[in-house]
Amino acid sequence: MTPSRRDAVRSLAAIGAGAAAASFPALDTLRRHVAAAASRDPRDLAPDDDFWDSIRRAYDITPDFVQLENGYFSPCAREVHERYVAHLRMVNARSSHYMRTTQADDKLAARRELARLFGCDEAELIITRNTTESLDTVISGLDWRAGDEAVMAAQDYGAMLDHFALMERRHGIVRREIALPMDPASDEEVVAAYERVITPRTRLLMVCHLVNITGQVLPIRAITAMAHRRGVQVLVDGAHAFAHLDFTVRDLGPVDYYGTSLHKWLGTPLGAGFLYVRRDGIAPLWPLYGDRGFADDDIRKLNHTGTHPVATDLAIRDAIAFHEAIGIARKSARLRWLQRYWTVRVRDLPNVVFNTPRTESRTAAIANVGVRGMAPGELARRLLAEHGIFTVAIDGAGVHGVRITPHVFTTTAELDRLVHAITQLASA
Ligand SMILES: Cc1ncc(COP(=O)(O)O)c(C=O)c1O
Repeated sequence: MTPSRRDAVRSLAAIGAGAAAASFPALDTLRRHVAAAASRDPRDLAPDDDFWDSIRRAYDITPDFVQLENGYFSPCAREVHERYVAHLRMVNARSSHYMRTTQADDKLAARRELARLFGCDEAELIITRNTTESLDTVISGLDWRAGDEAVMAAQDYGAMLDHFALMERRHGIVRREIALPMDPASDEEVVAAYERVITPRTRLLMVCHLVNITGQVLPIRAITAMAHRRGVQVLVDGAHAFAHLDFTVRDLGPVDYYGTSLHKWLGTPLGAGFLYVRRDGIAPLWPLYGDRGFADDDIRKLNHTGTHPVATDLAIRDAIAFHEAIGIARKSARLRWLQRYWTVRVRDLPNVVFNTPRTESRTAAIANVGVRGMAPGELARRLLAEHGIFTVAIDGAGVHGVRITPHVFTTTAELDRLVHAITQLASA
């Protein structure tokens, strides 16, 4: 290599190394801030607005409206976003040199970090673009035979329900859909609702860890135990649970598959997720895209998506660093507290309808509220037009209301505004 080419390669490498090693001042400040509260129980810290206002200052949140639709995706913290932009610049500057040299190692590091956070082996996890890709990879990867049955709930996410419908058309599988009890008295009630539709032909049960339209947290461990007793595999839709609830995969029992998005609760840029497949489930799964480079029992065979925006994957580690600086126990406790903060104030008002369990342990940040006599779309429209509050209307699968999703940057003042708005709209 000529000296000038060597210099050029060195300076390209320096851009990458510089981006990776750049200081993370806000994160350091955040860590000190959290360290000062380290001795406090997360549940005592949950109502401490001074503590959480400092977390909010780590974000750039629009002042144009109150953002209570963080369930679709949530913004990255400012530092995470800046690091993401730095990754974009670095990848653009180094282009194919980066892709051909460092990319694989960087992606492996991100995958390792995710596996650590989820509590699995890195050989059981791949980075995907989102939950849809993760779960549909499993749903279409099984070697379905005509007459095989799959169990799901009407309250599951539409994309997956559609994908099962595609398997029905293509392979002749039978879909068995249950209606989830809205406010179950016990785990057994939920488990029984699933068990009732299992037959000797059932192969797969898909279940939400946290139902996105109602906010209900489902008893995955108990459902998995029942399904496995009946010889049925379990696919968990964790779109809303990962980095929101305080758990690792070991707490769920031996689920077979778990998929999630990282742009909802972990705070990565748009377009990141993961798929976990328990080790013994990898070999039998058919990949969507052929890849002769990997053995049948290597999970990377499921990950051949071609050239894609790698900067998103690089930002995963930055998002994890921010997430861990707060700590999942504190984050989870605050999110649940925020939901209780506003729901207890309006739940028993006349004309107010709740589509979320009352039992605290069956909920987290998300809740769904309706006003009797008002269509959900109209309620969402009026919340925005008259009160400056952005939500999303849910009007199907037995759920009629607006979904309210606060995040760690949501303030109690914003929720007071919501309480005032619902009180007014329900009394009109
Ligand atoms: C329960 C559930 N599953 C799956 C998805 C799909 O997530 P993504 O669009 O990130 O693939 C969502 C999105 O809101 C969801 O709420």
